[in-house]
Amino acid sequence: MAGQIWQAEGYARNARFVSELGRPLLAMLDPRPGERILDLGCGDGALTAEIAAAGARVFGVDRAPDMVCAARARGLAVALADAFALPFARRFDAVFSNAAIHWMKRDPGAVVAGVARALVPGGRFVGEFGGFGNVAAIVTALLAVLARRGVDGETVLPWYFPTPNAWGRLLEARGFEIVEIALVPRPTPLPTGIEGWLETFAGPLFAALPEGERAGARDEVVALLRPSLCDERGGWIADYVRLRFAARLLSAAKREERPC
Ligand code: BEZ
Repeated sequence: MAGQIWQAEGYARNARFVSELGRPLLAMLDPRPGERILDLGCGDGALTAEIAAAGARVFGVDRAPDMVCAARARGLAVALADAFALPFARRFDAVFSNAAIHWMKRDPGAVVAGVARALVPGGRFVGEFGGFGNVAAIVTALLAVLARRGVDGETVLPWYFPTPNAWGRLLEARGFEIVEIALVPRPTPLPTGIEGWLETFAGPLFAALPEGERAGARDEVVALLRPSLCDERGGWIADYVRLRFAARLLSAAKREERPC
């Protein structure tokens, strides 16, 4: 994603909550000793390490070299990989993904197809990412501030936040049966405020502006958001909405039995 720079140190400072709050998803994954599990978009490996601690044989992939190094420093097996062209065939019992799929806007269908190829029949795909309405106030403020400067923010918005229906259709079209799927509103306190969040996540949007305009634009976004996201003690709470799902890859025979 142009303009999005992933650095493990800044991520840990501004966004450690991403893995902390993703922990309940591990219960949904329910990793078993000896299972082969792929962590798609593993970041710095905080949750990958927990899957490994459960006794599973976990392999992480990420597209950011700095994150891959940070995850390897935890002693994990991790590689750089392109999520749109996953290179695995029937290698895993489960694929797990926390807070990564919303960055895969260019072709989410290709991602799901790669996950389906990577799994054995009956394998699980368990994940969570931004769903429809996620960070709506932040998106609206960013688009408004860019529009005032003559930029159509829709063209540079890097995030994919589908409805459960749209995501479910994508999964079913590639051979999955939905076990569970829901939007989960999750107001999320930001430890370093909205400035830290924008610094870590909104690079691609500000990169659409000339460098000299970026600081002013950021201040304007902060001012627009203050009334709705900043509480009476000065704490910032982002309007996160998660799309949480579990799906199972059907065998070829079961797929043929499906009515449509
Ligand atoms: C999220 O985790 O929902 C998210 C992270 C960065 C940008 C947008 C959304």
